[in-house]
Amino acid sequence: GLDMPPQIASNATSEALKIASHQLVDLEQTVVFPTETVYGLGALALNATAAAKIFSTKGRPPDNPLIVHVSSFHMLRSLLPPEYVIPKVYEALMKHFWPGALTLLFPRNENIPFIITAGQPTVAIRMPSHPVARALIATANVPLAAPSANTSGKPSPTRAEHVYRDLHGKVGLILDGGACGVGLESTVVDALHADGHVRVLRPGGITVEDLEKALSVEMNDTMSIPKVLVHKRDYADEKIENAPTTPGMKYRHYSPSVPVTLLLTLPESSGTIPSTDLSSYVSSLRRETTVEGELKVGVLAPTDSKLWGQLQPIDGVTWSRFPLGPLAEPSLIAHTLFDGLLSLEKDGVHLILIEEVEEDREGLAIMNRVRKAASHSIRIPMD
Ligand code: TXA
Ligand code: MG
Repeated sequence: GLDMPPQIASNATSEALKIASHQLVDLEQTVVFPTETVYGLGALALNATAAAKIFSTKGRPPDNPLIVHVSSFHMLRSLLPPEYVIPKVYEALMKHFWPGALTLLFPRNENIPFIITAGQPTVAIRMPSHPVARALIATANVPLAAPSANTSGKPSPTRAEHVYRDLHGKVGLILDGGACGVGLESTVVDALHADGHVRVLRPGGITVEDLEKALSVEMNDTMSIPKVLVHKRDYADEKIENAPTTPGMKYRHYSPSVPVTLLLTLPESSGTIPSTDLSSYVSSLRRETTVEGELKVGVLAPTDSKLWGQLQPIDGVTWSRFPLGPLAEPSLIAHTLFDGLLSLEKDGVHLILIEEVEEDREGLAIMNRVRKAASHSIRIPMD
């Protein structure tokens, strides 16, 4: 870990980085490292044999492309076609958000193996801000491909122990950098369309509001400020929806091994789902389940949610409460969400209930992940 006295930490860290870099560069193996978003399973991006190990370790479908991570603009440039001129909108976004939780799509250069881009004409690139991630890439001195360090389909790990539980025995080395600050994956953005607008393919750590604000500041001297379009909200594309390149569209993501139910509690969400109060819902599950002994029900909701008041004692039911963070601070809820899912799973709950949040700021990415984790939804009346 990095939470050691500074002197020991720096020695231990530089030693660990050397070993990790050796493992990546000389042995062409994978290494798990912390980023500010989630832990990544890294391998050499420009080496198809090394990159293939990522797919086999995760059980990842080969048509789902990887993000390439860089530690400098020089390294970014080495991944782009030599004659390619970086668009103004990307200059603005990089100036504002790099290093950080923003992934940009660029045209694929010949040096990038097909396995990385899954045959797409574009490559996704980001410059992480986590000091260990940056130092590892800089030490290896080559770009690293890194998806989240989880078995395909599971929630992304935000602590080294999450990775250990899921992948130990399958990876040689895990660099422990403590809990990831952001806790959700990066925002994936495509501004390569002729209309010049910024398409959000996957909402994530950088919010739509952040993007809009940055573009209005950084591009106020241009003819027109690009719009930020959110997939499914502002634009739809059947071709995209059937393609693996829209993160999470084709493949189910973020589900722990226990079933997850989404609790709809906001007045404005659509009224097609009949409402049930929480006690009758869980009591009926208790009657129907084949679980012997206590039915353990995990609950994820904002710290100051009214939902907690509805968790009445029920015979044969044990509640496991996991408060996610204040309603007014969706960034804290984002930070805790995957840890909550993975901790409840580890505690052996039989079922997880997650309360919905407003889809603004980090709430957009939170609800994107929560909907993918949930197998169904119920409406809970709130007063
Ligand atoms: O925060 C993150 O982005 C983390 C950390 C480790 O950097 N990485 C991550 O990687 O979440 P992964 O593989 O779990 O998700 C990458 C997503 C995939 O869903 C993929 O569909 C999309 O990015 N992607 C990659 N290359 C793409 C491309 N050329 N076009 C469209 N989408 C792409
Ligand atoms: Mg992932």
